[in-house]
Parts: sequence; structure tokens; C-alpha cells
Amino acid sequence: MASFQVEGNSGKRNCDWDVFLREHPEIIEPNQVGPEWWKKGKAEGDIDLMKGLGMQTQRLSFEWARIEPEEHRISHEALKRYREIIDHLHKKKIRPIVTLNHYTLPEWIAKKGSWENPKIIDAFAKYVSVVAHEFGDVKIWLTLNEPGVLVESGYLLPFFPPQHIGLISAIRAHRHMLQAHKKAYWILKRMIPHAHVSMAFDFRWYRPQNPHDPFETLYANLVDYFDSLNYVDGVKDTIDFIGCNFYAGYFLNLNLLKFKFRLHGPQTAPLRTILFGEVRKPHAYISDVGAPIVSGFFLELLQFLAKRYHKPIIITENGIADRRDIHRGFYILVHLVAVWRAIQLGVDVRQYLVWSTVDNLEWLEGYREDFGIVHVDQVSGKRTVRKSAHLYRDIISARGIHIKKLLSEYFEGEQKERAETLIHHLLTHHGKAAVEK
Ligand code: BGC
Repeated sequence: MASFQVEGNSGKRNCDWDVFLREHPEIIEPNQVGPEWWKKGKAEGDIDLMKGLGMQTQRLSFEWARIEPEEHRISHEALKRYREIIDHLHKKKIRPIVTLNHYTLPEWIAKKGSWENPKIIDAFAKYVSVVAHEFGDVKIWLTLNEPGVLVESGYLLPFFPPQHIGLISAIRAHRHMLQAHKKAYWILKRMIPHAHVSMAFDFRWYRPQNPHDPFETLYANLVDYFDSLNYVDGVKDTIDFIGCNFYAGYFLNLNLLKFKFRLHGPQTAPLRTILFGEVRKPHAYISDVGAPIVSGFFLELLQFLAKRYHKPIIITENGIADRRDIHRGFYILVHLVAVWRAIQLGVDVRQYLVWSTVDNLEWLEGYREDFGIVHVDQVSGKRTVRKSAHLYRDIISARGIHIKKLLSEYFEGEQKERAETLIHHLLTHHGKAAVEK
């Protein structure tokens, strides 16, 4: 969960996204309050629900704008609220993974140029020191979430704040984010002995549509590099594990004439869709935003990351927008089978976190996309545990994937057949080319 996505509107907070939402009142409706984690009892209630589902780890983020609402002024009230949430997680024996910055920036730093201004590196370091001083009992940290998405959506395209568009802006933001990470890494390592620190990187994983075409292969490799791998390469000496966010992967096709520009894909990826000509097979469109389910890509990606970086991996996000919860169980199952197979093949995957526990504010989409295994009525705040959460719970409690049992309990008809085929495909995969066509 990211603070901005679950905390609701209460309490004082002035970050760039607050300003952005005020300028775009169409994104959320006035009566939508969201999961309201900032209100005492709300986060705690969801943590109790997580406990009931057997979850052992929860990722959450701290909001810099709450902790340092004005430059050099620390809000002890905000630290106290985060302390309550962390304590409740510990009480329930759920391990917290804390992200220090999940896209949003305090307005006072946004006014100075956001990630374009190199001064942000020291400002971030100061905020990180304050947090590390207060939360030495948190062992796993992510400095930033998906710098690639932020560079693309806020500095190359006008979708996210700060909407400072231009190649120079993007290059500066890219550089400063990586520098801020490195500085934060050493602060955390110094202040919290045994801390494990990384970033949550976004991986889409592009493959050539024709693997025998050397140009298409080169093209896909270059896109993967500029899209995600360059961020990992840039900080590879200052990460203890790879934080892997994975939702979907795509085939690329070099035949420019065949490109069909689709703009209704995941909102954070339109540039890739336009520039790279993502090929999506119509039958593979599964999520509410048209993302395909390609667990074979996931398996291949995990193997690739293990081979290239020799680091443990934590799956920091994996999930699907599926309001009616029709495909989510299938999605979780096949991705967990991919993780299982990757482990069998020698990949060191330490944890898997589904995104997300509860429905939350999906950035530009407001409350229109549901990623939660628990549904939240964004007006009344009522929680309803979805069927996919039961499947997830069964896997956690069995400490393994009883495929036959799960298939017979949770699936039927065509979906069951698809799951069987896909799982067979994943489990018989030995090395290369797990990608289902
Ligand atoms: C982001 C999340 C977001 C999710 C689903 C990820 O890229 O880190 O904040 O909710 O995608 O779109």
C-alpha cells in the first residue's frame, strides 16, 4: 500500500498530488473517502483483516509531506500515527516493509523543482534520517517506488505531477532519484544495523514477437534496458535485494506499419505503448485496464534478474485491476506458480506481496480501478473480503500450492482449463522461453 493511496483526505498533508487532485476535481468524487488509514482504527482494522488472511508481510509507505510538512519542521503527530500503524503490524506479527517515497513529494519541495532540483538529494536524506531514527524496528526498506514510471509520467509525459516535460528534465530527475537512493541507502545501513534496503523497480518485460529475428530481439532488449534495467544497473551496488513490481509483459514488433496505437492500456505506460508498439493479443486482455496475464514472462524475468544481478528478490507488487474479481484468483495462482518454479530453478525469491490488500486510490484513475483482494466501498468505507483473498489465504496457510485442490475449489469451465494448461507450461519449463504465445 502507498500512503497517498490509502490514507484518505483527513489530517494535514500538502503534497504535490493533493494540489494536482485539487486542480483535477474530476478524478475523485467529493463523497469518496477511500480506506482512510490516517484515521485511527482504519489501518488497524485492515491489519486485523490481513492477519485473518494469514499474511505475514505488509508493504506500506510513509508520506514525506506529513512527516515534514514545511521544510525543517518535523510533525511529531505524523510520526506518532505511523508508529501506531507499525506497532499494530508488529503486534499482529506482520512484518512491515516501508517505502520512503511512493511518487508523492511535499509541496514545498515541488515548488523548488521536485526531482529536477539537486537540492532534493540532501532534503530526502534528512527526512530519511528522521524516519530511520524513529523506526529502527523496521528491517526492510524501499527508498523509492518505480523511478521509471515517475520519470516517464511526470517528466516525459504530463500525467503525474510535476508535469515538467522535457528530455533534460527527465534526465535530471532520473539522475537525482538514483543519487537520493544511494545516499538514503547508506543512512539506513548506518542507522539501522541489519536493515535490508532496495527500491521497488517496475518491470514490464518486453520480448520480441519473433525470437528468431535478431533485430527484433535487440530492439526488445534495448527497450527493457531503457525501461527498467538501467535503473537497477544504476544502483546495483547499493541494493541488498531486488524489489520487483510486475504486472504484465508484452511482445514487441518491429514492423512499424502494423502498429496499432492503443491508449487504453495501463495509464502509467502510454509512452511505451505508443513508442514501442506493444503487441497485445486480443484474447490475452484480461484485466479491467487491458493488461494481459503472462505469468511465463514473469518466470522468465525472475530468472533473468537472478542471473544478471545475483541478488535475492522480493516481489514487492503483483496484481490485477479486476473489480468483479473474475480473474484475480487465476492471476495470483499462476504468478505464484511462476515464483515457485523460479525457486525450483534456483532463483532466490524471498517474499511475494500481492498488490494490493485493499482497494485504494489508483492515481489518475481515482477510485475507478480495484486492485484489492479486499473490496472497499470508497464512500462508506465498508470492507468485503473477495473470493481471491480466500485462495490467497489457502496458499499461505498450506505453505504451498496444492494445485489440484485449488483448481477444483476455485475454478471451473474454460478458466480451469486455461489454468491447467498454463500451470503445466510453467512447471515443465526448464530454462529458456517460458513465454506463452
Ligand atoms: C504502483 C502502484 C499502483 C499499481 C497499480 C504500481 O506501478 O506502484 O502505486 O497502484 O502500479 O497500477
